[in-house]
Amino acid sequence: MSIIKVAAQGKTLVCQQGSNLRQVLLEHEVELYNGKAKIINCRGIGTCGTCAVIVEGEVSEPNWKDKARRSLPPHSPTANRRLACQTRVLGDVRVTKCDGFWGQGNQTVWTPEL
Ligand code: FES
Repeated sequence: MSIIKVAAQGKTLVCQQGSNLRQVLLEHEVELYNGKAKIINCRGIGTCGTCAVIVEGEVSEPNWKDKARRSLPPHSPTANRRLACQTRVLGDVRVTKCDGFWGQGNQTVWTPEL
């Protein structure tokens, strides 16, 4: 397996290829969740939708849970988001978090650089 770099919230994280993006971010204390979603989330089973992020780079194709949850409001199936808990990292990636309880907003909360 290859070593992969994940850039998020000003950090460059290192993980194994195929790692779960949510786990990588949380293990490195990246603030994946906005506000009370830190407490009220599904812990990675793909139902709450609060772990949504913008991901640039090579990741797994969206699975049915990712597609299903992002098809429901306030998410939009056409928005450029992925559920971190349902995403495997396959190459170096850059992650951005947007505002809103579900990360569905249009304002940036953090970027790969900060
Ligand atoms: S943590 Fe709930 S959908 Fe990802």
